[in-house]
Amino acid sequence: MDEKSSLPTQTSLTNSILTRHSTRNFLPRAVPIEHLKESLLIAQHAPSNSNIQPWRAIFLSGSKLDTLKAALLEAAQNGKPQIPPIPEAFRHYRSELGRELFGKSMGIARDDMPGRRAAELRNYYFFGAPLVGIIYMDRSLSHADSLSVGMWLQTLILELTEKGLDTCIEGSVAGYPAVIREELAITDGMDILCGLAVGYGDPESQANQMVSQRDSWDTSIEIRP
Ligand SMILES: Cc1cc2nc3c(=O)[nH]c(=O)nc-3n(C[C@H](O)[C@H](O)[C@H](O)COP(=O)(O)O)c2cc1C
Repeated sequence: MDEKSSLPTQTSLTNSILTRHSTRNFLPRAVPIEHLKESLLIAQHAPSNSNIQPWRAIFLSGSKLDTLKAALLEAAQNGKPQIPPIPEAFRHYRSELGRELFGKSMGIARDDMPGRRAAELRNYYFFGAPLVGIIYMDRSLSHADSLSVGMWLQTLILELTEKGLDTCIEGSVAGYPAVIREELAITDGMDILCGLAVGYGDPESQANQMVSQRDSWDTSIEIRP
């Protein structure tokens, strides 16, 4: 495991990469729309396959966001999400995240099922974020094009981080694509990829105390000189 503290922090880019973390409790403080627009302007320069710029997103706040949150919460309370299971070989990462987040940070006991369920459901009101993006892509594109969307998204969240904003990417909400399509008038021809919660994290919140760890890069990357 690499410790963030032992990594270099010379540039503001490095600093944003290392200080960004997923935020799971937001203050009810509005995000200046200019911060979003400026970050979108920069993120538009992300590379993409044949320069097709396949990222699509709708950002919501205020009452329109409240309506989406209510619809997602209702769906999540009443039915299972359509999310492919994580393959066995990767499942231990999710267990470790659950132990760190729900157990160590939030103090929810392993056998406290209602507590865990309540914590999971917080995904569907975007952890109280005042600004939310729904990220989607034309369904006829390929997995390779979702790489380009990912590059755009990382660029965007780093720019938002530079502006003092906190974020959480949320694949969970894409588990209810019909709800999102209906609420935002997104056609069947589009794949809903994820949500993006944006705002100012509550520094006092237990959910925001977790610092996720990483494998050392050479466990997954080889250099063959
Ligand atoms: C594609 C994607 C989907 C994610 N979905 C969720 C989610 O639904 N809920 C959540 O709390 N975090 C979600 N995350 C955040 C990850 O759990 C987080 O990035 C990871 O644990 C590393 O922690 P860090 O972002 O704090 O560095 C998602 C991240 C990505 C990139």
